[in-house]
Amino acid sequence: MIKQLLTATMLLLVSMCSIAQSNKAEPWYTATTVYQIYPRSFYDTDGDGIGDLKGVIEKLDYIKASGFETIWLSPFFSSPQMDFGYDISDYRGVAPEYGDTAMVTQLITAVHAKGMKIVFDMVMNHTSDQHPWFQEARKSKDNPKHDWYVWQDGKGKRPPNNWKSQTGGSGWHYDSVAHQYYWASFLSFQPDLNYHNPEMKTAMLDNLRYWLDKGVDGFRLDIFNSIYEDSAFHNNPFALKVVPSETNPNGFFQKMKYTINHPQSFAFANELRAVLEEYKYPPRFAVGEVFGSHEVLRQFMGEGHDGLNMVFLFEILDFKFKAKYFCKVLQTFEKEFPHPYMPTYVFSNHDRKRSISRMDNDTRKAKLLALFQMTARGVPFTYQGEEIGMEQAYIPLKQAKDILAQKYSRIPQFIANMSSESLNRDECRTPMQWDSTTSAGFSISSNTWLPVNNNYHRINVAAEQRDSNSLWQVYRQLLQLRKSSKALQSDTITVLKKMPKNVLAFQRSNAGETYTVIINFSKKRKNVDGNEGSLLYSIGNTKLQTDQIELGPYAGLIIKSN
Ligand code: GLC
Ligand code: MG
Repeated sequence: MIKQLLTATMLLLVSMCSIAQSNKAEPWYTATTVYQIYPRSFYDTDGDGIGDLKGVIEKLDYIKASGFETIWLSPFFSSPQMDFGYDISDYRGVAPEYGDTAMVTQLITAVHAKGMKIVFDMVMNHTSDQHPWFQEARKSKDNPKHDWYVWQDGKGKRPPNNWKSQTGGSGWHYDSVAHQYYWASFLSFQPDLNYHNPEMKTAMLDNLRYWLDKGVDGFRLDIFNSIYEDSAFHNNPFALKVVPSETNPNGFFQKMKYTINHPQSFAFANELRAVLEEYKYPPRFAVGEVFGSHEVLRQFMGEGHDGLNMVFLFEILDFKFKAKYFCKVLQTFEKEFPHPYMPTYVFSNHDRKRSISRMDNDTRKAKLLALFQMTARGVPFTYQGEEIGMEQAYIPLKQAKDILAQKYSRIPQFIANMSSESLNRDECRTPMQWDSTTSAGFSISSNTWLPVNNNYHRINVAAEQRDSNSLWQVYRQLLQLRKSSKALQSDTITVLKKMPKNVLAFQRSNAGETYTVIINFSKKRKNVDGNEGSLLYSIGNTKLQTDQIELGPYAGLIIKSN
């Protein structure tokens, strides 16, 4: 997305804070850890070069052994795959290359049998233009399904108003059968549903109930900002902003007042939560893909904590590998999203540049990022392959399978290469690297839907499981530690002051147990005064002296107070 071109947002300095502890039992999802699977690229069991649901089932032991507790599965529903599943043509059906409904049920059962949870990816804002609802809707203005989508007459030969899509250009598309324009927040084959229509809304919420009844533990909600748009179709006001950012979705010279973060979308978050609350054993949760100011994010979660259980805090994708940056992030999130809000920590996904490639592909840095992510107060999200340090591939725009990248393919490649974010989402979606055999063990076929990164002989699961010093081992150990420690799951975090330059330190405590996390973000050795505890975990070279802690370059540790 264009917003990916942006460099980091500067955060305001805020004072440190620690939050009083509550004794109320928290729902399971506030303490969970999430592993995102992009099924197309995870594991192919039938040799067609495309990952499948059976592949997910076969790799559950790996996910469990890594220590993740919840799986977020990107869409596997029936779809023409124009946007690889983010264009759904049947919310209850399964795309044949992935499996069938029985396989989904088997997957849910297998996940639960391992004591894990699974959430699905719900694309509620739009359907595929191949969805039977849209096929009906476009037949005529009087068709009962017509109002299920957002239609308007054009102004002569021009679109109904000035609304721009999130990918640039007008979001209105003329349909020659309906003789009207339909609205699409994202790409033209993804027509927006009309949430002002109560029948459609009920039908969509029933789709959620369908999967909840089958035992799914919740949902990741795709572009939830765009659910509602203004029913009076006012023009969006002018704004002197070209590129949308994580905290401000305005762009393309428009304030997206009438198309993004509409107040009715906040109210809808509460309605959706009420549907989730119909299911109590176990409780279910939703995490929203939303962009906006902290206030907007809070509104999605509900002022009374009765909206989405969590939202992604995407601003952290623009992180700087510096203690000061992470210190500020912790302080900001604690101030803006204090308990019972639950921050989320996400550094990559199927749309964004791989996290290790934001850190010069340096494994030492990736280990410290994991240390931060797994010990801060919040729910960590890890994207498949991140735990083994899979790197961003290089795939020229002109060869892209990603339709969004194809849209940008007229941008000269050398300009695209200068961008800090990738314009080609294929680059973060290359097949999971399992071992050093054909196609990195992803498929028996050497003809995989996206090329395997040719560094797979060096970077793969099997190699990292053998190497006691690998990134994967760090993930596994940290996840294990987090699971067994009430302090690391607690609702408090205290940032420690007076640290040497480029050193971050914070504490997590619960019922008299205190863990101190210290991270040296620099390539220089650092000494930190004090030490009243024992070493619980360390990365890099560290040494505990009687009154001093020594940290080598890019070293980090966890101390348990005596
Ligand atoms: C979200 C998804 C992305 C998809 C888009 C449209 O941003 O993460 O992959 O293309 O929505 O559904
Ligand atoms: Mg919409």
